[in-house]
Amino acid sequence: MNFTSLTAESSAARVARGTRAFVERPALMLRAEDVRKTFTLHGQGGIGIEALAGVSLDVERGECIVLVGPSGAGKSTFLRCLYGNYLASGGSIAIRDEGAPLEHLEITGAAPHDILRLRRNVVGYVSQFLRVIPRVSALDIVAAPLVSRGVDEDEARERAQTLLARLNVPQRLWPLAPATFSGGEQQRVNIARGLIAQHRVLLLDEPTASLDAQNREVVASLIGEARERGAAIVGVFHDEDTRERVATRVLELTAPRAGAHEAQLTAAA
Ligand SMILES: Nc1ncnc2c1ncn2[C@@H]1O[C@H](COP(=O)(O)OP(=O)(O)OP(=O)(O)O)[C@@H](O)[C@H]1O
Ligand SMILES: [Mg+2]
Repeated sequence: MNFTSLTAESSAARVARGTRAFVERPALMLRAEDVRKTFTLHGQGGIGIEALAGVSLDVERGECIVLVGPSGAGKSTFLRCLYGNYLASGGSIAIRDEGAPLEHLEITGAAPHDILRLRRNVVGYVSQFLRVIPRVSALDIVAAPLVSRGVDEDEARERAQTLLARLNVPQRLWPLAPATFSGGEQQRVNIARGLIAQHRVLLLDEPTASLDAQNREVVASLIGEARERGAAIVGVFHDEDTRERVATRVLELTAPRAGAHEAQLTAAA
């Protein structure tokens, strides 16, 4: 047997296994298996940086997995791999894709249009920073994910207003472009934009880093409501209070270069 057929066989076996899991476990939303990521710094002599050395994780509807570990452990890298921003160097990432022939999409190796469709309909991602779009109002930035799904613009704006009010963004700011907003105001616009479309899988990378305690509490409530709706959530939260408030499980990542190559899954306290 040559190398090509070996590779083809193992990937076919993996797809069959993935299909079984997503059909047999209706609550399974995301499965990461042995995900590895090495960055090659081409401009710096081709040095390789190993950021993830085999992370595995299943996430079901209603779960919120909190990633913990020291700075540089690969938490953001893992979330970006799950979102398809970074292509994993090895392993597999599958996300439920209802109605698709295999009931799931394998992110590593998926066509760009499939990734974009999944982002519109299934997977939301909220980073620490808002990507400001010049001259577009906060209200329209928040409403955009609904409009892109075909929701009527007035209805999308109404839902955006409800979320912005809940997140204590002052009404006078809604018609303005967020470029001049404070860090915390921008972050709340970003959270509203990330949560408005009620994605079934949510990836959150330190969404509360610039918020005061009161607004962190609002975000924790919104995350709880998303879980009750059945969202599957994976997130990083810099403060212990929010972690304890939202986690159903904790996944500890350790930097591969520090020698520990395993991620440990433990029950949340
Ligand atoms: N685009 C990139 N190119 C090269 N190296 C990268 C890139 N992104 C991340 N890394 C490296 O991967 C490792 C993990 O980084 P990552 O940002 O995932 O850590 P983190 O756990 O999110 O840390 P923090 O808690 O500080 O946010 C780091 O050593 C980082 O330098
Ligand atoms: Mg990070």
